[in-house]
Amino acid sequence: MSQLRGDYKSVWTALSGTRDDAYMVVSGYTDEDKFHADAEDTLAILRATIGIRPTDTFLEIGCGVGRVGRVLAPFVQEWIGCDVSANMLGIAKRRLLGLGNVRLQEVSGYDLQPIPDNSVEAVYSTVVFMHLEEWDRYGYVLEALRVLKPGGRFYCDNVDLASKKGWEVFEESRTKFSPAARPAQISKCSTQPELETFLKRAGFAEVRVAGRLDFWAYAWGMKPPA
Ligand SMILES: C[S@@+](CC[C@H](N)C(=O)[O-])C[C@H]1O[C@@H](n2cnc3c(N)ncnc32)[C@H](O)[C@@H]1O
Repeated sequence: MSQLRGDYKSVWTALSGTRDDAYMVVSGYTDEDKFHADAEDTLAILRATIGIRPTDTFLEIGCGVGRVGRVLAPFVQEWIGCDVSANMLGIAKRRLLGLGNVRLQEVSGYDLQPIPDNSVEAVYSTVVFMHLEEWDRYGYVLEALRVLKPGGRFYCDNVDLASKKGWEVFEESRTKFSPAARPAQISKCSTQPELETFLKRAGFAEVRVAGRLDFWAYAWGMKPPA
């Protein structure tokens, strides 16, 4: 029986049974060096948008095997990786051995319930929103606002439907699978206005959006100061 897209725990646990399976679904390859180089790119985007400060506690929604956490943790006070899949977190734990300021947290797939209100300086989610239903994307934007301290920063991204390469992703998925055969985790694009709307509706201030590489849409903002 095919899995439901919204049953994230069962879908992503099944996709991450081995290290190679997990790497493939996170990035499309298993080469650790390329993995590391891509993570450096993500770090550069975080620096350019929400900034990275040594006193920050950073939380990642959908951290996978800790691709970004491994390069980000040395620059911050604490890095908390949240994921719906215990398999992903198990691999992340092994990859991040030796980093003393890392915490891993399994979540339900719909919220950040184990994380207290007003407790972190920065929240981000990268390469995750394309796998979520729109309602659950917004649910995480609301949760980010809840767990951030006043003045805290949030970043999220998705493939941009309005970009040339984003449209190719859309068309490939549309034509490759019959409706009944679509994988539960299939990427669904977004747009800059969608992300902007979610952040503004949730209550973020200083909301900004941008695009990158004719592929990504991303948005960032700040929780209003108390
Ligand atoms: C494509 S991977 C990206 C991982 C990581 N963000 C990175 O950039 O390397 C998507 C990750 O999101 C996780 N995920 C999927 N649905 C989720 C949900 N509803 N809540 C939390 N994590 C989720 C998956 O288990 C997987 O680890």
